[in-house]
Order: sequence, then C-alpha cells, then structure tokens
Amino acid sequence: MPMFDIIAASAFGLESVVAGELRRLGYSELTVENGKVIFRGDESDIVKCSLWLRCAERILIKLASFKAKDFEELYQGALNIPWENMIPENGVMHVTGKSVKSDLYSVPDCQSIVKKAVIEAMRRRFHRSWFSEDGPLYKIEIALYKDIATITIDTSGAGLHKRGYRQDAGKAPLRETLAAGLVYLSRWTPERILADPMCGSGTIVIEAALMGRNIAPGLKRAFVSEDWPGNWKKLWDRYRAEANSAIKEVNLKIHASDIDRKTLRKAKDNAERAGVEEDIIFQKKPLEEFSSKKKKGCIITNPSYGERLGGEKEVIELYRKMGQVFSSLETWSFFILTSYRDFEKIYGKVSDKNRKLYNGKIKCRFYQYFGPM
Ligand SMILES: C[S@@+](CC[C@H](N)C(=O)[O-])C[C@H]1O[C@@H](n2cnc3c(N)ncnc32)[C@H](O)[C@@H]1O
Repeated sequence: MPMFDIIAASAFGLESVVAGELRRLGYSELTVENGKVIFRGDESDIVKCSLWLRCAERILIKLASFKAKDFEELYQGALNIPWENMIPENGVMHVTGKSVKSDLYSVPDCQSIVKKAVIEAMRRRFHRSWFSEDGPLYKIEIALYKDIATITIDTSGAGLHKRGYRQDAGKAPLRETLAAGLVYLSRWTPERILADPMCGSGTIVIEAALMGRNIAPGLKRAFVSEDWPGNWKKLWDRYRAEANSAIKEVNLKIHASDIDRKTLRKAKDNAERAGVEEDIIFQKKPLEEFSSKKKKGCIITNPSYGERLGGEKEVIELYRKMGQVFSSLETWSFFILTSYRDFEKIYGKVSDKNRKLYNGKIKCRFYQYFGPM
C-alpha cells in the first residue's frame, strides 16, 4: 500500500490532545503544528484514524508542499503531483483554497490554476480531453502560507465532529470534537462519576459515554474515502467490523441535567441516536438543586456565556450560583468552559489551570479545578 503524509486537522488549542489520541492509537512519529498533527501512514491508517480520533476535525492526505510565488510555480508544482495514482477517470475534482501572507492572494485564481494542473495530469494519463466528473468526490485544497503552497486531499467529507447523532443541536451546542477534548483534558476515567448540570443538547456527556463504552466516534457516519476505488471499501468494512466488536458493556455513572425541558428532550434523543441513552441519567433540574452525597466526582460543563445565550446580568448571576453550589462539593473536580472574561472573579475561585480553546470562532477558556483523583 502507498504511504502518505497524513494530516489530522485540529481546532486551535487541541493539537496536543489530538497528538495524545494518535499516540494511544500507536503512532509515535508525530509533527505537531498549529491546527494540525502530521504523521506517516497508509490507507488503513487513514481509515483507522477517521473512525477512532475523537478530537480531530478531519483527515487529509498531504500531496505536496512547495514554494509558489507566481502562477507558473503553482501550476508546475501541482502538475508534478501524481494525480493519476489518486483520482480515477470519473472522479469529481473539487478544488478549494486559502491564502495567508502570500504573493498569490487571489484564491479563485489559485484554485483554477490547480484544477488546470490536475486536469492536465489526468489528460496525460487517460488520453482524453473531457472528464465526466460523476464518480467519487475528491476535495482538493490549495493552502498558501508565506508563499509555500500545500496541496491536500480530504478523506473525511463532512467534518469529523459530525458523528451522526446530533440532529437537534439545542441553543448553543459545543462541537463534538471539542466536547471530547474537554473530557480528555479533565482526565475523567469511566469508573468515576461525571456530571454536566447544564448539559444542553448533551454533547459532553454523550462524548464521555462513547469513550467509556469504547464506541468509535465515526461508527455511525459516512466518509468520502469509502467511495474511493481500490482497497478503501474493504478497509472500511474491516475496521467498522473491528470497531463494532470493540464496544464494551460498562456500568457508567454519568449524569446530565438542564433547566430547560425541551433542551433536555433533545439531549435524550441525541443520546439515543448515539446508542448511549442507557448510560446517562437525564434529569430536568436547575443548577441550584445540584448536589451529591458521593465523595468524589467530576463536573464538566459549558454554561451559557452571554454571546449566544442570555444577557450579562443573567450570566453573572448564574456564575455566582455555580461558585456557591460547587463549593459544597469540596472533593470534586470542576471543569468549566466559558468565554466570559471575568469568570473566576464571579465564580469566586482561581482555577488550578486554564487553557485557551475555541468553540467555533468564540475564544473561550477552559477553567480546571482539580480535586483528589
Ligand atoms: C451553552 S448551553 C450548553 C450547551 C451544551 N454543552 C451542548 O453542547 O449542547 C448552556 C445550557 O445551560 C442551561 N442553563 C442555563 N441556566 C441554567 C440553570 N440555572 N440551571 C440549569 N441549566 C441552565 C441552558 O438551558 C443551556 O442548555
């Protein structure tokens, strides 16, 4: 099987978490850069990582990286790629692009130059001048950064956060990939109690349950590379079958509550679609009533933070209450994601650690208060 440079694209701030996942999957030679982790692998590695990575945004094949200060350099660099080994005669060649700090700043022009080069390479290989483009999809990206062109092919299709379970997203949902990242960063393990008292559409608790049961996050969705000719379909079938038999029956202690009945209904429906409804106890309950007699537990939550929900007064009131309610659970650990800058001041306690993360475009901080494990 041919070997590739594979890129696991990541949200900013989660690169080291994605690298950790890759190490646990057995990959040791990793290059971690802003927004991506790069490693070597073949088709089966692409399938395995697409199915199992919980925090990566997509899996790309890096085809080439070269200096391109003008259109001719871009065309020649793109033409040198052995496209004919990647794309079949009927492949749909869809080129997207971006350009940052580069002389070639017109993205539509860069896209059409790359498309021309791909078509020329295909012409030489298949000895024809017209391609029907009615077969499997090949999404090619030309990314220019400081005059270096990087050309990739996307193997995922829809972003990896689209697991297939969330049709009803609630008011301000977290990306599934970020929710999984929060669970990893909390160091929660499946034998421990986990609660989200402002669960919204349930993303955090559902991602935790998927982890606890060892359910591959990509098991219930489709990927573009499944339709590619060659070994792909066989590999997908094999890795899906393996992932199905890797699912564990575990007695999880995961609790989810929210003040809003309709939102909670959505969370339950999402959990059902994810196949983890039996693993989570859902309750309609305001945060103020959250309590537990258990000595140890872990709260991971993403309260409303003004930009998307409620006004500032409500947010301040909610955070003050959170500080009071959580202070009675002295030996628990708390993990709170919010974009509200004065969070610690209103909550009443400085975190042991905080980390900058992005929920979509919103810059947030993940405040971490570690109790005894
Ligand atoms: C930002 S959303 C959570 C989104 C969630 N992480 C998801 O992925 O869908 C905040 C949630 O807090 C809930 N909430 C607000 N005030 C609350 C309170 N006092 N008690 C319980 N839930 C509350 C809202 O109903 C909303 O669903």
